[in-house]
Amino acid sequence: MEIKGIIFDLDGVICSTDEYHYQAWKKMADHEGIYFDRKINERLRGVSRAASLEIILEKADRQYSDEEKLEMMTKKNDLYKEFLSSMTERDVSSEVSDTLNALRAKGLKLAIGSSSQNTKLILSRIGLLDFFDGISDGTIISQSKPNPEVFIKAAGILQLRNENCFVVEDAEAGIDAAVAGGFHSIGIGSASSYDKAEYKINSFKEIIDLV
Ligand code: G6P
Ligand code: MG
Repeated sequence: MEIKGIIFDLDGVICSTDEYHYQAWKKMADHEGIYFDRKINERLRGVSRAASLEIILEKADRQYSDEEKLEMMTKKNDLYKEFLSSMTERDVSSEVSDTLNALRAKGLKLAIGSSSQNTKLILSRIGLLDFFDGISDGTIISQSKPNPEVFIKAAGILQLRNENCFVVEDAEAGIDAAVAGGFHSIGIGSASSYDKAEYKINSFKEIIDLV
């Protein structure tokens, strides 16, 4: 295994925006009277906004029109962006920023691979917009995780072969995408006990020991 680059998921890996996604969907679901809890929320990790809504609507007691679905997604995203508006550089832990700098010092190319259309907004709020060598996000893909498109595009931007990259993910859908694309994978957080993850870590700094 020769690792030359690392592709990081954003929400739940670089920063804790996964919690904001949950809070925003929860508020939207409560407003609609649809049952939603943290266990269901685990299935939303890594999947697109539209696919997330379809998972939430499995518990709805009626059908929703495309127009209503669009309204619900807009409402959720507005709530989500309210949370994002209070984010600052302090929302990146010193462990994450020290590790990113150490990995760069080792000569590795670093990219973001996120299904989120809010990726650049978040990176700019946390002061990392200009840090990465590549950003592949929800605005440039047609299929979200577990499809590997977002990671394949990230590797392309880094000009590296998939098998020379690690993908760091907190989502099972993200690990599935990494495996489907022929990447090496590291599961952290919610994916740290996922059997399909090639490496499983409990703490971000452990990445340094794997390269
Ligand atoms: C990430 C998150 C998902 C989210 C998706 C789309 O992959 O893990 O939970 O649904 O991005 O995010 P967006 O910000 O575009 O709604
Ligand atoms: Mg994630």
